[in-house]
Amino acid sequence: MKLLHIDSSIQGDGSASRDLSGAVVRHIVALDPAIDIAYRDLAVAPLPHVDLARLASAEGAAVLDEFLAADVIVIGAPMYNFAMPSQLKAWFDHIMVADKTFHYADGNPRGLVGGKHVIVAHTRGGLYGKDSPMAGIEHTESHIRALLGFIGITDPHFILAEGLAFGPDQRNAAIRSALDAVTGLNIRLAA
Ligand SMILES: Cc1cc2nc3c(=O)[nH]c(=O)nc-3n(C[C@H](O)[C@H](O)[C@H](O)COP(=O)(O)O)c2cc1C
Repeated sequence: MKLLHIDSSIQGDGSASRDLSGAVVRHIVALDPAIDIAYRDLAVAPLPHVDLARLASAEGAAVLDEFLAADVIVIGAPMYNFAMPSQLKAWFDHIMVADKTFHYADGNPRGLVGGKHVIVAHTRGGLYGKDSPMAGIEHTESHIRALLGFIGITDPHFILAEGLAFGPDQRNAAIRSALDAVTGLNIRLAA
């Protein structure tokens, strides 16, 4: 089994999504101590914007191949300016590749990489639940779900900590509750 761990926060040691993605990885390692882990830190080593040359390059193909090889993908995904960090968008741009991760059949898109486990550790400063006045400008979780769904990953697990900008009490409670959700993650890894 192979696990790909991705972080994208620019906030270094103060990052909540890094804490949560790390907790998810530790939880999975406890389920399968032999799992093979690759780590990509998109803030420390950003990928370039894709262009046609990049998509055709060995470096671009290596990012896609690393994703294709993974059985489990853990993504640390903060909300920046109502969306995912541009560093994480650049990674998605490398893996959303026609005839590799999706194709069109009879005029309909079909995802080609269903069967992978994806866990997204998502953090945000405000509150964007469906009853929140901010719900309409939530473009991080919804975009990540759309991208994953398009390539066939229709059941990602989201571990959410929100309201992190509302003071230390709210921040600590949200992170504690997200860590509890990690403990309760029920992932059936194939033998
Ligand atoms: C550049 C930047 C932009 C941000 N934009 C938003 C935003 O649009 N909405 C929001 O709720 N929080 C926003 N935040 C707060 C982050 O979502 C919050 O700090 C969260 O903890 C980020 O995860 P991280 O700690 O792993 O970086 C922003 C933070 C930064 C640094």
